[in-house]
Amino acid sequence: MNEEQRKEQAQINQVDAADRKSGQDKPLHEKTSADFAKYFETTYQPPNINKARKRGREEVDVHYDFDIPEDMKSIGEGKKFLIRTYGCQMNEHDTEVMAGILTEMGYESTDDTNKADIILLNTCAIRENAENKVFGEIGHLKPLKLENPDLILGVCGCMSQQESVVNRIMQKHQHVDLIFGTHNIHRLPHLVKEAMFSKANVVEVWSKEGDIIENLPKVRRGKVKAWVNIMYGCDKFCTYCIVPMTRGKERSRLPEDIIQEVRHLAASGYKEITLLGQNVNAYGKDFEDTEYGLGDLMEELSKIDIPRIRFTTSHPRDFDDRLIEVLAKGGNLLDHIHLPVQSGSSEVLRKMNRKYTRESYLELVRKIKKAMPNATLTTDIIVGFPNETDEQFEETMTLMEEVGFEAAYTFIYSPREGTPAAARKDDVPMEVKKQRLYRLNELVNKQSAEAMKAYQGETVKVLVEGESKKDPDVLAGYTERNKLVNFKGPKSAIGKIVNVKITDAKTWSLDGIMVENTVEVN
Ligand code: 5AD
Ligand code: SF4
Repeated sequence: MNEEQRKEQAQINQVDAADRKSGQDKPLHEKTSADFAKYFETTYQPPNINKARKRGREEVDVHYDFDIPEDMKSIGEGKKFLIRTYGCQMNEHDTEVMAGILTEMGYESTDDTNKADIILLNTCAIRENAENKVFGEIGHLKPLKLENPDLILGVCGCMSQQESVVNRIMQKHQHVDLIFGTHNIHRLPHLVKEAMFSKANVVEVWSKEGDIIENLPKVRRGKVKAWVNIMYGCDKFCTYCIVPMTRGKERSRLPEDIIQEVRHLAASGYKEITLLGQNVNAYGKDFEDTEYGLGDLMEELSKIDIPRIRFTTSHPRDFDDRLIEVLAKGGNLLDHIHLPVQSGSSEVLRKMNRKYTRESYLELVRKIKKAMPNATLTTDIIVGFPNETDEQFEETMTLMEEVGFEAAYTFIYSPREGTPAAARKDDVPMEVKKQRLYRLNELVNKQSAEAMKAYQGETVKVLVEGESKKDPDVLAGYTERNKLVNFKGPKSAIGKIVNVKITDAKTWSLDGIMVENTVEVN
């Protein structure tokens, strides 16, 4: 689908302006969901595994023609913006892009809500509590908007991709001026202009698929580490997960565009990049005429003069031998692998539509460990999936030990409207789920502490990111295997990779002292 066709499908709607002009419509607060459904009619598709399999590959277009129209280039002069980011690294990186666009429009960034002319909430929909936080924040910002009617308050990110959320905002939070989705970020200049000059709410959500827009500006948060998108979207349709709906279908950036971005980052002095995607192992599967996967991409990137390359997030199903072979060569490809398992029970995994079993996951782990004996493995786990039995939960506990994960993000299952799992009856009481999470976390903490202990007395390479949040006299950075290290050292070490001798191991971090020689500064 090209940009013109997309525009035809675009849902820029001046809700009450258009409706009230007709003189026949109800006031905004009296409208029901049905009144807002039209904004999603052409684009909204509830999650559907069968349809997902048929998602067209040929429809992805890559655009290199992003430009800010002349009349919007100075629209932000003398004004400030603030973007609050919730959720994953993908959102963090989208925020860097939005900051880049707003900066090119003349805006400056601020941390102070009172000084901001635009506030954007870049939201996460993965679990209910993430959404609740955002609704709380929308409420908190209301007095500010009442005080300063010229303030543009926008909601973007994954929550905006859900029809029910848009309905709720439109009905109950009319002080929100602008709602736009994850595929509409490049339209920000137009949307801001629209919100500035119209007296009505602006809603633009293309929820269907999304193209790739290449040359978007970015204001990166740091000068040491950078995110690099390699692909967008997800076609895996795990039954609990909202992401395939909020982020569209899997689509990969072309290798040459990624390589060029990484080269540019290396030349600008960045020391570490993290390749980003909801399921990076599916990289290249959407290329029609070539067989080119994540392993091939990583091999090419490993030749670039940048000290550290990471990638996240992996799906066990697509983690192939070629990738293992390339990672095993080491060099600047780090051997920390985040490999979400979600559950240790094959039956639960089947219900989650993960397409692997406990046994095949363990087999993959064996292969990885054989090729990379020092690899660190971390994971994501969901407890309390509908009807998870005690025995099935115990299988998660034993898998945690068997693999020896050094860290895990653990979650209580949160039903997401429109996903297959949310429609299932669930006989597990919340108290039981909480108890399971508690037990799992105890085990995660124990394994993390044990892994940290092994570093006591060792010397590790730390990429120094800056001062520690708690103490400006202490520097902080991460090891190759992603362990946080706090240590005393000169400020001149910031941005460099230095040797640090570990003096104390805590559950989630290490303390140390810098050893004189700097390791490598490319
Ligand atoms: N409930 C709880 N956790 C979830 N995740 C994704 N969807 C849900 C949900 N509905 C977790 C998975 C995923 C991580 C990013 O969030 O573990 O890997
Ligand atoms: Fe969600 Fe990850 Fe499953 Fe995709 S692979 S549906 S992002 S949990």
